[in-house]
Formats: sequence, structure tokens, C-alpha cells
Amino acid sequence: MREIFLEEVDSTNLYGKNNLKDLPDRTVIYAARQTSGRGRLARNWVDLGGENLFLSFILKPSDKFNEKFSNITQYLSVVLCDILESYGLEPSIKWPNDVLIGSRKISGILCETVMQGSSFNGLVLGVGVNLNSDFATLETIDKPATSLNLEVGRHIDVELFKSRLVNAFFENYDEFLEKGFEFIKSKYISHASFLDKEICVQSLNKKNKGIAKTLTDRGELVLDSKGKILVLTIGDIL
Ligand code: BTN
Repeated sequence: MREIFLEEVDSTNLYGKNNLKDLPDRTVIYAARQTSGRGRLARNWVDLGGENLFLSFILKPSDKFNEKFSNITQYLSVVLCDILESYGLEPSIKWPNDVLIGSRKISGILCETVMQGSSFNGLVLGVGVNLNSDFATLETIDKPATSLNLEVGRHIDVELFKSRLVNAFFENYDEFLEKGFEFIKSKYISHASFLDKEICVQSLNKKNKGIAKTLTDRGELVLDSKGKILVLTIGDIL
């Protein structure tokens, strides 16, 4: 496994995408500062200015796209929950892959699939974790957010957190590739704070309200919308 550390970069995901062909499978890119972090659904990811984690995995699991790759963000969210539990916290997952402490987001995950024409070149799986921040800085984010140092009451060693995350990610990565979402389904559900609740999901340009019933074996969200069962593949719980 190769690691690349950058003092400052626009986005570790963008760096990964732009250099994909020269980077071997399982390269880890991480940066001390990120000036133009990318988020899901065309949002951005704010650099909180302290010591935080901005990391992208370069993954080239095969030369063909496999639908199991779509669940890799959910696999990473479960890995993150395990690590946060080791800090004494009770993390939860907001479908599909936001990791929260209470109702506040501590981590965001963005996977970008790189294609060249119809051929699949690889995945750039990015994760941002708020490790060290303060209440005033977190207030500048438009949605409720928290950071690990505030949750545990001490400074967090970024290097140590990064090593734990990378090791835990690769520990079961091959088994995840083989089995897909089913491999993590029960653990994912045990962290899924949205289940059995009335939620509103923004999917592309449509909003769907209903009760979150369960997850399919492919990680899709099953929503009961006034008796009509909807199976949602992408979206964001508002
Ligand atoms: C989201 O919740 O919207 C996803 C945020 C993903 C942020 C990470 S930080 C490291 C990597 N590089 C980026 O530009 N984005 C991801």
C-alpha cells in the first residue's frame, strides 16, 4: 500500500482523479489542508482549519465496474463507526453514508467513479472526518456538525486516527468486494438511526416523505410513503 501526503491540495479526490493512471491500486492520499473540498450532490466540504482528516483511497478492484462498488461508501461508514466506538462514542449512520454523533455530522464520504469512455478506470473514495475543531468554527457550517475532540474532550492525533482508519478499511476490504452490502448489512442496520422514523429524502430533483422501513440487500432505502413502497438508490435524508 502506498501513501502520499500533501501539505495542501485543492481536493484529495480531485488529485486522485487527475493522477489516477499513475497511481497504483490501494494508494492512500491525505492532506493537511484542503482548499476546495468536494462533497456529495455538488456540495463542498469545508476545511475547518485545524488538524482534520482529508483522505482519498485509490481503488482499482477490477477492470470492469461491478454494482457492489456502489456500496463502498456504506462499507467505509461502518468502518468509521467501529473506529469512533473505540473512542467511546455511539456513532450512527444517516443513509447512505453520513456518520453522526447524536444529530451532528462528524464525517462525510464521497466516492467518484472514473470512467474513460465505457471502460472503468477505478474509484476515488474520499472521506473527511472532523477531528479537531471548536464550537465557533463548527457554527459556520450550514448543517449541525461536530468534531471528535469536542466529543471526547481532548486533542486528536490525526496520524494515529488515519492509520487506524486505513488499516481497518483494508482489513475486510477483500471480503467486502466479494460479498458486497450483505457483508455489512447487519452492522449497518445496527447504526442506522433513521429506521422506523418519518423522513424526507431528496433524490435528484424529487422529495419523498415516508417511514424508513429497512435496507435492501443492495443497500437501497425502503420507504413506506403513505402505503406505497419506494426503493431508493440515491438521495439524501433532509
Ligand atoms: C459529503 O458529506 O458531502 C462528502 C464529503 C467528502 C469530503 C472528503 S474530504 C477528502 C475527500 N476530498 C474531497 O474533496 N472530498 C472528500
